[in-house]
Amino acid sequence: MTSKGHFITFEGIDGSGKSTQARLLADHLRCLGYDVVLTREPGGSPGAEEIRALVLQGDPDRWSAETELLLFTAARRDHMERLIQPAVDAGQIVICDRFADSTRMYQGLSRGDLRAKVDTLHELMIGQEPDLTILIDMDPGQGLARAKGRQGTEERFEDFGTELQEKMRAGFLALAKEFASRFRTIDGGQDVDAVARDVQSATASYLSSPS
Ligand code: TYD
Repeated sequence: MTSKGHFITFEGIDGSGKSTQARLLADHLRCLGYDVVLTREPGGSPGAEEIRALVLQGDPDRWSAETELLLFTAARRDHMERLIQPAVDAGQIVICDRFADSTRMYQGLSRGDLRAKVDTLHELMIGQEPDLTILIDMDPGQGLARAKGRQGTEERFEDFGTELQEKMRAGFLALAKEFASRFRTIDGGQDVDAVARDVQSATASYLSSPS
């Protein structure tokens, strides 16, 4: 992304602790004096939050895999236009909990192989990658236990079970190799403070010499 600010994303399987880490990084960077916008996908803008409710609540078979892909991409386009791009253009640091790599994994892998369609649509409608992507890597058994511990109506993808989460984990690690210049992989099995320190140092080294 060629811009004045920075666009940082967090990725990982359900329950990996990435949302907590995204928040901790936002707090840390604000303490250092940076102007930070913390956001999430699906959602992050009013229109995209409406689409979030459509894809994450209700009958899991409500949408075909392809329709779901279109909805996630529509939400992302709105989020990009209304929030991410203006903030980055204004020189802010945008930290986003999940982005297109989640679509590459969840829609690209979970219900057949749609990865080529995901990439084509991304190229056509989004056309941007983050400057830095922090992958919180974690054992799916541990992640699932955490995800299931949370109550809520958005169970759609957390109901996948350990086998599919294993596939997602391997998929995220493969993505980290595919996009090695922007990915940093962090061991999410450590305690929260140790993970936060690793996230801070990965971010500091990116900010000192953005590629
Ligand atoms: P999220 O609220 O980040 O859940 P969690 O905190 O458990 O990570 O995301 C909700 C779900 O949406 C999550 O299971 C992953 C899924 N998802 C997709 O399937 N495709 C996407 O493009 C995105 C952004 C999320």
